[in-house]
Amino acid sequence: MVLRLGDEAPNFKAQTTEGEIDFHEFIGNSWVVLFSHPADFTPVCTTELGEVARRSKEFEERNVKVIGLSANELGDHHKWVKDINEVNKVNVGFPIIADADRTVSTKYDMLDYQDATNVDTKGIPFTVRSVFIIDPKKKIRLTLTYPASTGRNFDEIIRVIDSLQLGDKHRITTPANWKKGDDVIIHPGVTNEDAEKLFPGYKAPLPYLRLAKSPF
Ligand code: BEZ
Repeated sequence: MVLRLGDEAPNFKAQTTEGEIDFHEFIGNSWVVLFSHPADFTPVCTTELGEVARRSKEFEERNVKVIGLSANELGDHHKWVKDINEVNKVNVGFPIIADADRTVSTKYDMLDYQDATNVDTKGIPFTVRSVFIIDPKKKIRLTLTYPASTGRNFDEIIRVIDSLQLGDKHRITTPANWKKGDDVIIHPGVTNEDAEKLFPGYKAPLPYLRLAKSPF
């Protein structure tokens, strides 16, 4: 199933390291980062899950719940979490979906059938490194797919959350390499008259490029 930005995130029930969940109930009124991993007990994934656990406060401050997925059994997940905690000196406090039968990963198109090396012992494809940012209305706001060989940049994922949340509150967009606190771009749909009221003293290096101080 091809999922596009603005689609409702498909619902599912699944076993996780924190118990059984109904995904839409899990989302509740929060933003969610759903991210998949090729397999348990693999090195890059072990560092990624450690990094997400280390940054749990940054996600919480943004009203974001994180949930991982790996195409293995729950028993393996529990053993793997012990390794992750030990080696990264963290406490993984978010759920990891046990998707050994690929039910959720098929729904979310997280399987790469082209990579013949990314398969389990039976030759069944593992998931790749997909990321979905989902808003409290359950709409998909970002999709990213990384190859199995490349660990994700979580600064970037948090940066996009900041941009989306700011853009939902104010009529702005964010420029290349923008970070929280940097100047923002006034949305092209805002008239100059409204821009003056909303962002007094804004700068316009081009008629269609109007910059304002960040409303954070
Ligand atoms: C890893 O997490 O290190 C990994 C997983 C699957 C393929 C390649 C690397």
